[in-house]
Formats: sequence, C-alpha cells, structure tokens
Amino acid sequence: MNRMKTLTLVCAAAALAVSSVSAQARDFRLGLITPAQHLWSTEAEAFAQTLNERSGGEHSVSVFPAQQLGNEAQMVQQLQTGALDMAFLTIAEISNRIPDFGALYAPYLVDDVNHAARLLRSDAAGELLDLMPEGVGFVGVGYGMVGMRQVLSRSPIESAEDLQGQRLRITPFEPIRDFYTATGAAPAPMPLLEVYDALANGQVDAIDMDFDSILILKFYEQANNLLISNHMMFPMVGVVSGRVWRELSEEDRELIDTAMSEHLENVLTGFEEMDAAQEEEIRGLDINIVEADAEFFSEAIAEWESIWAPKAPMLETLRAEADRLRDE
Ligand code: BEZ
Repeated sequence: MNRMKTLTLVCAAAALAVSSVSAQARDFRLGLITPAQHLWSTEAEAFAQTLNERSGGEHSVSVFPAQQLGNEAQMVQQLQTGALDMAFLTIAEISNRIPDFGALYAPYLVDDVNHAARLLRSDAAGELLDLMPEGVGFVGVGYGMVGMRQVLSRSPIESAEDLQGQRLRITPFEPIRDFYTATGAAPAPMPLLEVYDALANGQVDAIDMDFDSILILKFYEQANNLLISNHMMFPMVGVVSGRVWRELSEEDRELIDTAMSEHLENVLTGFEEMDAAQEEEIRGLDINIVEADAEFFSEAIAEWESIWAPKAPMLETLRAEADRLRDE
C-alpha cells in the first residue's frame, strides 16, 4: 500500500485528467518469457481470469508466454511506449537499467527460497519497486521468483578453479555476468528458451539455472553434473506500463494491483512449496552432485561486492533486512 501511495502521487495529475473516461472496457496484453507450463505463465493466466471476473467481464487479459512478443529487452521497450500493457519480467532486464536492483543478486544475500520470499515481501524490497516509474517508466506491482541459482555442467565442478575458462550460460544481465567473470568463467548471455540447444550442440559447457527449469526444460538430458550452490535468488516482477497506468481510473488501478499482487504471491508461495520436492527429484536423477557454499566462491564474492556495493547503494538496506529476516 505504501508503494501504491507513491504511485498514486506520481500519477495524480494524470489521474485527475482521465477520471472522466475511466470505465472503458480493455483487453490488456501481458507478455512473459517462460513457457506455457511454467508457474509464472499459469499464474499470469489465472490473473487474467481473476481480473475478468472481478471487473464483471469488462476487462480481459491476453497472455503471451514463451517470448511470443520478443525477449525481455524488447518487451521493456514495448512497455515504455505503451504497445504492451503488462509483463512478468525477470529482474535481470530491470537491473540493467536501474543498478540498485542489482542488489537483489548479491551472492548469498539469502540462504534459500523461503528466505528469498520473505525478503521480497519486505518494505526494503518494496522501496526498489518505487524506483521503477522514474527509472523505467513502469509501475512495479510486486515480486514473484523462481528457485535459487545452481550450476549444471558437462564436466564436474569440484572447486572454484574448475570454473576457469568454462563457457557458462547466464541470463543476460550485468550482476550475474560480473559474478561469473570474477570466477574466471566465460559468461555466455542467452535467453532461457535457447539454452537446451546451446547445451546440446556444445555451444556452452555449463549453465546457471534453477531446479524448476532444469526439470521442466530437461536440461539434465544434456549435462549431468550439478553444483548445488544456491548462490543467488532470482526474483521476478509484475509490471504495468506507466503510460497505460496513467489512462486507468483509480478503481481499475486498484483492481489490477490487488489481483496481480495475489497471483504474484501465489508464485512466491508456489516456489517455496515446490523447492524441496524438486531438489529431491533432481537428487534422484542419474547425475553427479557437488555442494557449494559462500566459502567455495569467496574470491569471486569479494570482487562482486567491490563492483556492486558502490553501484547499488540499496545493497546495504537489503542486506540488513535479509540478516534480520534470516531467523524469522
Ligand atoms: C533464466 O533466464 O534462467 C530464467 C528466466 C525465467 C525463469 C526461469 C529461468
């Protein structure tokens, strides 16, 4: 609600201007990169249904999963021009434009998915969303996430030195690139849906990935060594184009904000609930597993901090909040 108040202030003048044309039926378009069976996509569809019901059939949402509207960089541009109304985006693309979001990728900021979800529900994480209207021109409604990041590779990674020279697929964003560069790996930025083929044809040696994606996209068929490192959280954000938001009545904004927030919360709880079973399923596969902790990556972490602490001043606030939430 704090966030809503800020957004309301940002949009106050426009709201007054458009209040007389508020009750327009709309078919919103929502884009995302995950495949149709992914929880982000199923919750986007469920949000569409909720909004339709609660608006008495007035509003509908067409959901475009699997990068049908382009990659995230392209969707960000469409949101900025108002050609796209809404999206569920990884924080990756946002952190390329608002460096403070990079703080969410501090290695070992959180211990596990439950800790990540608690941090994403905190006011400290909410403060980051307040940067979005000015920083990228979107309204950040709330957070979702996937599970913690792990490293799946063709050859075993038993020490940080084994990462040296590995062509390692990353999601295209700067904080993760800087982390792997610091390990001595050669990061290869690549969208999620290109990863299977890149592993299959040997374009990359290893991938940075979460348990859920490893299972649903069957990456384990192409690489059978897993470093269970839990080295980073991987948030998602539900956004509405600022241009579109300004055209909406207060009533419609409230409707969208409430419905989308509920389905983003389902994503957070969904990953909290699935994580242990997914880890068990992966441990049951015919793959070689090594475990790693912050000590394993200590040199890379020190280098990452030296780059990102000055770039992302919010890191201090988030770390204090994460520490406070650690034992809750
Ligand atoms: C990835 O880039 O690895 C990714 C993106 C969205 C959901 C899951 C994974």
